[in-house]
Amino acid sequence: MDGNFNENDFSQIIEADRGHIWHHLSQHKPYESSDPRIIIEGSGLHVWDQHGKEHLDAVSGGVWTVNVGYGRESIANAIRDQLIKLNYFAGSAGSIPSAIFAEKLIEKMPGMSRVYYCNSGSEANEKAFKIIRQIAHAKYGGKKWKILYRDRDYHGTTIGALSAGGQDERNAQYGPFAAGFVRVPHCLEYRKHEQHGASITDYGTWAADQIEKVILEEGPDTIGGLCLEPVTAGGGVIPPPDGYWERVQEICKQYDILLHIDEVVCGIGRTGKWFGYQHYGVIPDLVTMAKGVASGYAAIACLVTTETVFEKFKDNPEDKLNYFRDISTFGGCTAGPTAAIENMRIIEDEALLQNTNDMSNHLINNLHELMNKHDVIGDIRGKGLFCGAELVSNRRTRDPVDEKMAQAVVADCMNQGVIIGVTNRSVPGKNNTLCFSPALIATTDDIDKITHSVDEAISRVFGVKKPKTI
Ligand SMILES: Cc1ncc(COP(=O)(O)O)c(C=O)c1O
Repeated sequence: MDGNFNENDFSQIIEADRGHIWHHLSQHKPYESSDPRIIIEGSGLHVWDQHGKEHLDAVSGGVWTVNVGYGRESIANAIRDQLIKLNYFAGSAGSIPSAIFAEKLIEKMPGMSRVYYCNSGSEANEKAFKIIRQIAHAKYGGKKWKILYRDRDYHGTTIGALSAGGQDERNAQYGPFAAGFVRVPHCLEYRKHEQHGASITDYGTWAADQIEKVILEEGPDTIGGLCLEPVTAGGGVIPPPDGYWERVQEICKQYDILLHIDEVVCGIGRTGKWFGYQHYGVIPDLVTMAKGVASGYAAIACLVTTETVFEKFKDNPEDKLNYFRDISTFGGCTAGPTAAIENMRIIEDEALLQNTNDMSNHLINNLHELMNKHDVIGDIRGKGLFCGAELVSNRRTRDPVDEKMAQAVVADCMNQGVIIGVTNRSVPGKNNTLCFSPALIATTDDIDKITHSVDEAISRVFGVKKPKTI
């Protein structure tokens, strides 16, 4: 195939793809007898595939990324103009868009002051881990080197990030992992009976106290950081229970532990505030973000921290190791911060945080109506335009449905032209939560179409089985 393919004939593209592309997260055997899906074009909340079929995308590019929707010419134009002026210079120097975006971002994050650019969520999290480790060496004589992470959370795909990975099915076969990462229990109240916490009434405090238990077991002087998603994403869409974050903050203060919040999914509006943690009144020490920062128009990730943390990397200039000895080549690309500036402007000018909150209410209401109709929906959870519906075979025991059935619901929606998600190769036996995260521009009509398709799909896959009790 040369570069001049016929735009009306995608057979060349399909053959090139089938012959050479290794798709992410995909078992390729089916592509020997069926075509891979190629997404050709997008506009607003819709994408079109190689057959010209239109899909309503309820997962923002598959993985919660395209927050401002497809086809934003103003972002494309801003990137084009910047690339002609200056496409790249290593991040040891500054650039106009990186300075402007950093200032705008910090305005949205009271208590924070410094932005470190890189290019993926995994990489941003690695930076946070390195910062915690370097502080341990420089300030605590090598103690406080351990990093706590939570069951069901995900922080990325590299071996370092997987070492902090709370999803055993995702981690399987990639070990051994890095030393010094210690798991704490999840905070999914719907499954508290599996944590021997069935009778707990103040679950939020109890779940946070389980973190303290681990700290005391390991020894507080060995723990440097705690890394948490504000709302767990791929591990089951888990908003924290009431009281959880307040107690987490207290624990971190008490034991001098840096709080690292992974906003890779929640950051930049997904939950109806700029950042997920801002719903809970916590002040983190380190915040990482990626997906929604530029809505996928350019690759960009940021690690953001406080002046207190930053100061530790310049307070002894006589020491030749006393700075953050880290670089990210593509963290110096100017397309990322340029796209991020325009992405943020769109969210502000179009009042998309407000829309996210309004549409979230509509989505949750619709999902509750479906729960009244379908016994198989055991729990509805969410924050902003980031919601999940957990499917169970028995509401009393809360046994998960077979994941193939959950996947069949997703496939049925896809046939109807609506792309929804499901937790995937994440928690063994618990890949049973349908995921909804449309772009922040969604309308009530879009939300109704999404939930209507789920209604139809569940009716076909499970039959209509009305719940006896809700
Ligand atoms: C919470 C969270 N953190 C980190 C990552 C890793 O981001 P990336 O794929 O950009 O490396 C993801 C990706 O899905 C994520 O969901």
